[in-house]
Amino acid sequence: MNIPLLQRLRNAQGAFVPVAELGAGKTLDALRTDLAELERFGFVLESHPYRGVAYRGPAARLCPDQIEHELGTRRVGRRIAVWNRVVSTNDLAAHAAASTANEGLVILAEEQTAGRGRRGRQWVAPASSSLLMSVLLFPSEHLAEAGWLTALGAVAVAEVVAAWTGLDARIKWPNDVRIAGQKIAGILVERGDGAVIGIGLNANITRADFPTELHDTATSLRILTGETVDRSELARALIRRIDDWYDRGWSLGPDALNPAWRDRSEHLGQLVQVTTPSGSHMGRLIDLDLRRGLTLAESDQNGRTRQFSVRDVLTLTPCQDGPGPNSQIVTP
Ligand code: BTN
Repeated sequence: MNIPLLQRLRNAQGAFVPVAELGAGKTLDALRTDLAELERFGFVLESHPYRGVAYRGPAARLCPDQIEHELGTRRVGRRIAVWNRVVSTNDLAAHAAASTANEGLVILAEEQTAGRGRRGRQWVAPASSSLLMSVLLFPSEHLAEAGWLTALGAVAVAEVVAAWTGLDARIKWPNDVRIAGQKIAGILVERGDGAVIGIGLNANITRADFPTELHDTATSLRILTGETVDRSELARALIRRIDDWYDRGWSLGPDALNPAWRDRSEHLGQLVQVTTPSGSHMGRLIDLDLRRGLTLAESDQNGRTRQFSVRDVLTLTPCQDGPGPNSQIVTP
């Protein structure tokens, strides 16, 4: 597919571009063939006999060529596979872990028949409404902690969502990305031969698509911006952010992620309840560090601080909100 042609049309921001100005050395016939191919794929173009062609909107389905074109990443996205319907993108990525040559493989799907959330929950999204993505990594030992990989996914998603909407995207412990308290994405890290970071990001879901019980707690880019999201561009942005943080992890070590993770936290400075295998503790969260763990100034200990390793924290709940389910669950 002629992606430079697509980009030239998109860059014109809705204005008509004469066909003769569209092709670097291509004949008009060849250009018309390329334009027809873009339209066949689903890109919305408007043709005018004298004014030329105008870009009117993205294809409804993910476009592998558009995602891959000059992606420029080091590790993540060296291979990208886009599926129509799968059981779970995390399953496909896990299968590919048989070969370390698949480091950085990205699996995307329009639809999952049994998408998974954390704690055995379902992750349900209407076909072609979301970014359903899994990334296969073979992290070095010091990057392989599930907590670090979850933070990597959450920070990358939060940054992309913030850039897309201009809004303050925050991470709700441990794996939700939220805007003003409403969940827009969830991360599910699963480890086997390699590590799989699974991401479900609500892109074009409308309010009516969400089950009623999620109306107040879930949101999407479309709801927030009022515009249809070009999911292929969204996938590009997310792959680049994940690659950038993963690469920084390799070159600078796991601590490189700490400042961004801390800054994006919903909980830092807040009163929270932390549950660990040894019990529950309430206090103000005064520090977050992926290696040192969480530092709590405990309420019933006159503010004496206590440290919890990320791995030991079973739940962390804001005291004001109280605990509650946070996955995108639909009960049939
Ligand atoms: C959660 O919030 O509980 C995590 C949700 C993770 C959902 C994504 S969608 C793509 C990938 N494949 C899955 O089966 N799950 C993750």
